Amino acid sequence: MAEAQRHPFLQGLSKHRGSAPTVVVIFGASGDLTARKLIPAIYNLSFDNLLPADFFLVGYGRKAIPDEEFRTDAAAAIKEFSRRELNEEVWGRVAQRTTYVAGGYDDKAAFDRLAAHIAEIEKNLGREVQALFYISTPPSVFASILLNLGASGLASKYLGKPHHSKVIIEKPFGKDLNSALALNQTIRQVLEEHQVYRIDHYLGKETVQDLLVQRFANSIFEPLWNRNYIDSVQITVAEEVGVGTRGGYYEQSGALRDMIQNHTMQLVALTAMEPPVSLDAEAIRDEKVKLLRAIQPLNLAPGGDVARAQYAAGMMGGKPVKGYLEEEGINPQSATETYAGIRLSINNWRWQGVPFYLRSGKRMARRVTEIAVNFKRPPGTLFAESERFNLAPNTLAFQIQPDEGLSLVLNGKIPGLETRTQPVKMNFRYSTTFGSNTPEAYERLVLDAMTGDGTLFIRGDEAETSWKLYTPVLEAWAKAGREGMDSYPAGSWGPPSGDALTAKNNHIWR
Ligand code: NDP
Ligand code: BG6
Repeated sequence: MAEAQRHPFLQGLSKHRGSAPTVVVIFGASGDLTARKLIPAIYNLSFDNLLPADFFLVGYGRKAIPDEEFRTDAAAAIKEFSRRELNEEVWGRVAQRTTYVAGGYDDKAAFDRLAAHIAEIEKNLGREVQALFYISTPPSVFASILLNLGASGLASKYLGKPHHSKVIIEKPFGKDLNSALALNQTIRQVLEEHQVYRIDHYLGKETVQDLLVQRFANSIFEPLWNRNYIDSVQITVAEEVGVGTRGGYYEQSGALRDMIQNHTMQLVALTAMEPPVSLDAEAIRDEKVKLLRAIQPLNLAPGGDVARAQYAAGMMGGKPVKGYLEEEGINPQSATETYAGIRLSINNWRWQGVPFYLRSGKRMARRVTEIAVNFKRPPGTLFAESERFNLAPNTLAFQIQPDEGLSLVLNGKIPGLETRTQPVKMNFRYSTTFGSNTPEAYERLVLDAMTGDGTLFIRGDEAETSWKLYTPVLEAWAKAGREGMDSYPAGSWGPPSGDALTAKNNHIWR
């Protein structure tokens, strides 16, 4: 407990030590996410001795897969995707309690079989077992799974006790406000809110959690963290990868739904929210929702608060790459944006008048996720910008990934007999201070859900509030089709309309 108080984000770990025997059931267990992230996460938790002593894994899917084949596939996934090499003994501990149940997602009888399977596990163990259901299927079957968890009694198992059933729901959480409302309604039919863990894997990233620690465990920031000292905030979530093999999904999604509405808005909320009254999940989520509610509706007129674009052919790493419209599985007339830029205004006491610029895109110059907090310039009485005084605004930059860390740009004197200045950078790098083998987001998130800690998950009203802001944008873009769609060469920092968002306030992207 003392440990948990010193390191609040270890609370999940301390709770875990008393946690119940657990069965994790993965729906969509033959899928890409299961292989690339979920199985390696479970393996690494086992490696670190963070799984309950009585831990069971059950894969579920429509395809009939024998238990042994599922275990072999899982071991292959660990070999290919885990941050640690496969250790047979560690994996063996999980593998011997790993099974597979075949069934449809809309097949009530199959869910009854799943319930009987879990009951059998409990009978053999001689104890009650907590069930954590991980919905890792395409969103088209989220609702069927939820309703069948309800109908089979699995959703309400042990409700009222700490080892009640819990459900993790993958993204996307809806595709607009109405679909998110409908999904929340389905959830409410079968689950209580505290049983629900809506995933945003960005919250599982170490550096995203560190944002709260930096803001609230250091006294130097809070007095400056407002419109009196901060000029603007820029959040960049840039990817080098293109749409790859995910054309089918991406065409229905686009950058606004895929990256801005969820991941990027979580970064906004954690950067701008008020200090929570405690580190309790509800206290943090209350503050995030309050912040999201203070964001003004976006100006959708040309030259307003939004920009969208598609990548055109370009060069990356010295090699030519295709434009979005030439990619496999993409409609050559597609009106799906691969870049979205947004200017937000937050109408509260702290942030009024401070623009928050957001941009996210595929095929950009470099993979980087960064939150740059730009401070106001000092009055120019002593060091007015000139040939001698090369001055930059002070910028505190949270480097979320890669090369995780924190940097502060200051202006310093160039050594010499004459007073000349230049911007200098103070750097903190995770890898140099802490080493590099940190847990992956999914490890943290699966562990937290298992231990009943919802801090790093999205609450229903949070998802709805974010969709409320962006649904009018999506509707306007759908109506406009390709009209107003800008473009940027693959390997660049985005389109002219994205630069115009900052230029309007005499700012430039870092
Ligand atoms: P997949 O397309 O690989 O599907 C997962 C499994 O669901 C499949 O193996 C299949 O299992 C079943 N399935 C596939 N299509 C359908 C369908 N039309 N109807 C019913 N069942 C279907 O998905 P991913 O594993 O890539 O993603 C799972 C979830 O995670 C999605 O919600 C996705 O948005 C989210 N996600 C994925 C990421 C990734 O990197 N893959 C990243 C972030 C989020 P079976 O046939 O055995 O039933
Ligand atoms: C996913 C998006 O949620 O996040 C992908 O669907 C994107 O399109 C991915 O590539 C980025 O995640 P990360 O952790 O690599 O920044």
